[in-house]
Amino acid sequence: MRILRTIAEVREAVREAKAQNSTVGLVPTMGAFHQGHLSLMRRARQETDLVVVSLFVNPTQFAPNEDLSTYPRDEEADARMAEQEGVDILFAPTPAEIYPDGFATNIHVAGLTDVLDGASRGAHHFDGVATVVTKLFNIVRPDVAYFGQKDAQQVLVVRRVVRDLDLDVRIEACPIVREPDGLAMSSRNVYLDADARQQATALNRALDAAQALHDGGERDADSIRSAAQKVLREAGIHPEYLELRDAETLEPVARTTRETLLAVAARVGTARLIDNHVLKASS
Ligand code: PAJ
Repeated sequence: MRILRTIAEVREAVREAKAQNSTVGLVPTMGAFHQGHLSLMRRARQETDLVVVSLFVNPTQFAPNEDLSTYPRDEEADARMAEQEGVDILFAPTPAEIYPDGFATNIHVAGLTDVLDGASRGAHHFDGVATVVTKLFNIVRPDVAYFGQKDAQQVLVVRRVVRDLDLDVRIEACPIVREPDGLAMSSRNVYLDADARQQATALNRALDAAQALHDGGERDADSIRSAAQKVLREAGIHPEYLELRDAETLEPVARTTRETLLAVAARVGTARLIDNHVLKASS
C-alpha cells in the first residue's frame, strides 16, 4: 500500500491504473478506522481493481463548537488496518493541500440538508461534506465510491450532488456494522465511558422496538415513533431528533407505507451519536 499526500501523486497513480483499464474504487473516510470503515474497504476490494481510501478529517464539516480538535486520529494504526484489507492507496492529505489559501467554493444541496443532521448540526455540515466529497471525486475519479448507511442522510446528499452535477461515479451504500450488543460502530464511540457505553445501547434498542411495531403491521408514524421514544426515555436519553421521514426525499411521513427512514441523534455522555433503521414498505 502506498501512502500519498498530494493531489498530483494520486492523479498520477490513478492515471497509470486507468491506462491499464483498471477500475477505481474510493472509500472516503476521516480515519480512526473500525469494522464499519473496513467493511467498505472490503467491498471496494471485491468490486474494483485499484482501491483508494482517503483519510482526511475535514475541518469544514465541523462547527466551531464541535469536536474537530479532539477527533480521534491514529494514522499509523489506520494505515496498518487499510493495508491488511488490501487497500492500494491511502490518500492522507494536509488541510492546506485540500483547502489552499483563497479557497472560496462551497457546494450546498438545498432541501435535503435542512432537516435531521442538517437542522441539528447546521447547514455548514453537509456543505462541508458535499464540497470535500466532490473534490475527492475530482481528484480520484473513481468508478465506484462506497459510503455507509450509518450516515443515511449523507448518502442521500452525495447521491444528489452526483445527479445534479453529472458526476460520473456510482454510489454504493453499505449496511451499518454494529457491535455485538447492537451499538452502531462509530469513531466517536471512543468518547463513551463505561456508563455512557451501556446507555448508548438504547439507541438501537429504541429503533428495534419501533421496527418491531412496523413489522407487526403498524403503519402510523406517531405510534411507531412513540415506541422508540419510550425506550430512549427509560434509558434517560433525550434525543436531538427522533424522526420518521421518506427514505428518498426526507419529507415527513404520517404513515410508513413507503420506504421510511427512522433516524435518531442523541448526546450520550460527551459523544453525539446517530443511528437509523430503514422500514421497508412491504414488511
Ligand atoms: P467517517 O465518519 O470516517 O465515515 C467514513 C465512512 O464510513 C462513511 O461513509 C460512513 O457512513 C461509514 N461508516 C461509519 N460507521 C459505519 C458503520 N458502523 N457501518 C457502516 N459504515 C460506517 O462520513 C465521513 O467520515 C465523512 O463525512 C466523509 C464522507 C469522509 C467526508 O468527510
